[in-house]
Amino acid sequence: MTTALEALELRRSHSKLVDPAPSPEQLAPLVAAMTSVADHSGLRPWRLIEMRGDARTILGEALADAAEKPDKREKLIKKAERAPLVLAVVVSPRKSDKVPLWEQEAVASGVAHLLSLLLDEAGWGVIWRTGSHTRSAAVHRAHQLGEHEYLLGWLYIGSVPDQDRRAKPRKPLDLPKHLSAL
Ligand SMILES: Cc1cc2nc3c(=O)[nH]c(=O)nc-3n(C[C@H](O)[C@H](O)[C@H](O)COP(=O)(O)O)c2cc1C
Repeated sequence: MTTALEALELRRSHSKLVDPAPSPEQLAPLVAAMTSVADHSGLRPWRLIEMRGDARTILGEALADAAEKPDKREKLIKKAERAPLVLAVVVSPRKSDKVPLWEQEAVASGVAHLLSLLLDEAGWGVIWRTGSHTRSAAVHRAHQLGEHEYLLGWLYIGSVPDQDRRAKPRKPLDLPKHLSAL
């Protein structure tokens, strides 16, 4: 069995993603495991929106509407087709006197990171993407978000072509820069 440390060391984002994507039944238990993300007061201030097949066009068209570049419209619409499954990560803040918005956003961010790790460990390819129109009105509308909700971007998910599977070495961490003591 892989340890959490091994899974992290092996995790890589993949930008080239092809069919198949995890089915709703394969995705569900991984999302259910997100109850383990640290969450002040257990507010669960997040939700995910699956886009598969033609549903991805709704996102592509919203990105194109937001960009307002008619000559690039078709290219922008295609951006949403870079993976067979696109999962929008939504911060869905709850009312709380104790837990400010930034803490709730940290929970949603944790979900995106940990779900990416679980998908990677399960053999799927994932990359977290955003873009300058992530928080645009057109994109907000297309996802049918509530007034108080906003996106952290999308996890693009699918299968990794064999030649892209090799884990490239990472630049080691300059530890004293990131870990010190008072
Ligand atoms: C919030 C967030 C937004 C990101 N947006 C993009 C993006 O729009 N395009 C992109 O190529 N990478 C984006 N990345 C980076 C990739 O997800 C990925 O981390 C990067 O390609 C490095 O690969 P690695 O995860 O294997 O280290 C984003 C990462 C985060 C956390």
